This record gives sequence, structure tokens and C-alpha cells, in this order.
Amino acid sequence: MTDYENLSAQLRALAEAEPWYVPLLSNASALLMETLPDLNWAGFYLLREGELVLGPFQGRVACIRIAPGRGVCGTALVKDEAQLVPDVHAFPGHIACDSASASELVVPIHAGGRVRAVLDLDSPTKGRFTEADRAGLEQFVRALEEFVRFD
Ligand code: SME
Repeated sequence: MTDYENLSAQLRALAEAEPWYVPLLSNASALLMETLPDLNWAGFYLLREGELVLGPFQGRVACIRIAPGRGVCGTALVKDEAQLVPDVHAFPGHIACDSASASELVVPIHAGGRVRAVLDLDSPTKGRFTEADRAGLEQFVRALEEFVRFD
């Protein structure tokens, strides 16, 4: 079971050192990838000119642009709520960037009172993410939101 209190504390330390989103989200994706077991992708999509655009990540080459409402990321953006998907093949419109991905968790990130980005985690194992992971990663994102600067 991941220690999310500790993970958020590590994120805060990174964010206090540097709140600009390029280094912060780069190290945040590395932190998630090395801490959470059984992931094949961990990273961010940033809202830019009305679309989600690929940001800092760890994992295989990924799709670059996602329209609002498309896939798991676009759904999390439009609904402005976390999406926990135990089986991506059962999710209508799922965007398969890596055929190895079987489950996914996406959490919206806010700045200035509106959604500005999403955190996306993929796993090669069906049902990898639990409600405890969702709550822990929402806590992680709340810590990120206290510091992150998108420009
Ligand atoms: N599967 C995501 C697309 C991004 S990749 O997983 C990195 C989706 O359906 O939104």
C-alpha cells in the first residue's frame, strides 16, 4: 500500500524548490513512476488553446493532443472529476497510446479556480487502482495545486 502522506510530502519539497510546471511536473512524473508499483505510464496533459496537450511524463511515446470529452483524460477534464477505470477496454472512447495499458486513473489539476491539466497514470494490470489510490492521488494533486505555476 502506497504511503500517500509521504508521497505528497516529497512532492511539496520538490514544489517548494521550483514551482514552474516544466521542472516540477517532470520530477513529479519521475517520483510517481518510481514510487507506485505496476505502472507503465505516469504523466501530465496540459490544457492549451482548448485541448489537452502532452506534458512531462515517464513511459512510452504517447498521443500528443486530446480533445475535451475524448478518452479517459478528456472525460476527466470535461466532468472535472477523477476517473478510475479498472478496465480501459470497457471504457467507451478510450485512447490506446500503449497497447499494454489495462487500467487507468486520471485526476484533474486546477489553477486560478479552473481546471488546467490532468494527471494520468496507466497500468498494465486490470483493476490496479483502488479507491485508496484515487484518494491518495487527489491528495497529491491538491499539494501540487498549492504551488504549481503554469506560466
Ligand atoms: N489513455 C488515455 C490517453 C493518454 S495515454 O494513456 C498516455 C485516454 O484515454 O485519455
